[in-house]
Amino acid sequence: MADVTIRPMRADDAGRVLAIYQAGLDGGDASFETRAPTWAAFDEARLPGHRFVAVDGNDTVLGWIAVAPTSARAVYAGVVEHSVYVAPDARGRGVARLLLEALISSTEAAGIWTIQSGVFGENTASLHLHQRAGFRVIGVRERVARHHGRWRDVILLERRSSLID
Ligand SMILES: CC(C)(COP(=O)(O)OP(=O)(O)OC[C@H]1O[C@@H](n2cnc3c(N)ncnc32)[C@H](O)[C@@H]1OP(=O)(O)O)[C@@H](O)C(=O)NCCC(=O)NCCS
Repeated sequence: MADVTIRPMRADDAGRVLAIYQAGLDGGDASFETRAPTWAAFDEARLPGHRFVAVDGNDTVLGWIAVAPTSARAVYAGVVEHSVYVAPDARGRGVARLLLEALISSTEAAGIWTIQSGVFGENTASLHLHQRAGFRVIGVRERVARHHGRWRDVILLERRSSLID
């Protein structure tokens, strides 16, 4: 991992970020979505202060992580939902782990106390990644939506920071 660094996501990363997003969706176990959004929609939905990319020594984006608010209610201002996507040819090298560590540090520093995510049960890489990073399983939402016409379960995960009381 010596050649991989984490830096804030910039608008000029959009093309690579959305291509990596689409490759993850095409794999079939990342999300109910099947098409990556436009950059405008991506940008609008996610908090600007907690978006990171992992890059190699040539500043080529290998993966990204970002969060969206879960509620407009003030009491839930410290609860966010994240997405993490790594390019297929960069997987299995610890890129997602580095991205998740960066996100945990940045959100905790900003007073965000809970990061949550929904993961398909078939997504063993994501489940392993998140449980290693301190996420716990809240439960399983059964047949909560259709993906390519098929009802699928989603495992809800959350990480409650121990630093924020
Ligand atoms: C899930 C994903 C982000 C993981 O990215 P990655 O960079 O390959 O993950 P890492 O190399 O950092 O691995 C993190 C941990 O998961 C484990 N892991 C990685 N791939 C795995 C697999 N296929 N099966 C089981 N464990 C796996 C690693 O061994 C590592 O565990 P360790 O810390 O105990 O060594 C990547 O597979 C991906 O982009 N998938 C498509 C998009 C997606 O599903 N995103 C998550 C939506 S919830």
